[in-house]
Amino acid sequence: MEKPLTDWSALLGGLAHELKNPLSTINLNLQLLREQQSMGDTPQAERSVKKVDLLLGEVERLQTMLTDFQRLVSNAPLDMREKNLNDIVADVLEFENEDLTRRGIGVASQFDRNLPLIPLDENLVRQALLNLIVNARDAMEDAPGTLTVSTRREGDYALVEVIDTGVGMDEETLKRAFAVYFSTKQRGTGLGLPMVRRIVERHGGIVTCDSSPGVGTRIGMGFPIKGEGECDEGS
Ligand SMILES: Nc1ncnc2c1ncn2[C@@H]1O[C@H](COP(=O)(O)OP(=O)(O)OP(=O)(O)O)[C@@H](O)[C@H]1O
Ligand SMILES: [Mg+2]
Repeated sequence: MEKPLTDWSALLGGLAHELKNPLSTINLNLQLLREQQSMGDTPQAERSVKKVDLLLGEVERLQTMLTDFQRLVSNAPLDMREKNLNDIVADVLEFENEDLTRRGIGVASQFDRNLPLIPLDENLVRQALLNLIVNARDAMEDAPGTLTVSTRREGDYALVEVIDTGVGMDEETLKRAFAVYFSTKQRGTGLGLPMVRRIVERHGGIVTCDSSPGVGTRIGMGFPIKGEGECDEGS
């Protein structure tokens, strides 16, 4: 009997990987084309450069989408190490601070300094946090407000909350926000929150979400302090 095709994550991850190769070639050649065209000073050459820029933008969007997709379906084992969650949050915030400030967004943080070290895959936690910060930023695009990131202990969990004073979500959006490919943004892919959920759940954690239209959104990621994530299985 033929073996059923069950390893979807490997199959889909492989497809994303294969698609990225020709995209890199397209990207590279578009850049060369852009260089050539920008040497000409005719209106025609100028129009060509604009078209090439448009194509480059779309190629980059596809590349980001495929990378996000690969991360979402990845089954690569978690790299769990005892980490200080506050340090990770502070680091990501520092990295994003300039962009947020330039957009007129106020940045605040509240850290629970008594949080113990907890087992985390730092890169994945950073990715999840970044996705939440980017969403908060987008939500405050038209009316810059305040982004607050806080940490605290809640029972057996270390909780990180990302709070914005942005547009918020109506009931329908809130219901679907974590669904794969759901997006209300013109150029959104809808992979950000599913990735947050998957990362937190792989750690054995929980995601919380509260939002009110016109008031803002609060999304929390709770990571188990004792570590009940995938890596601890069988240990
Ligand atoms: N902080 C927020 N405030 C308001 N709406 C939000 C917020 N975070 C998420 N949403 C809503 O949930 C939807 C899904 O979010 P998600 O991050 O999964 O995708 P996206 O941001 O649209 O695209 P991308 O794949 O680039 O992240 C968003 O399109 C938006 O409607
Ligand atoms: Mg997003």
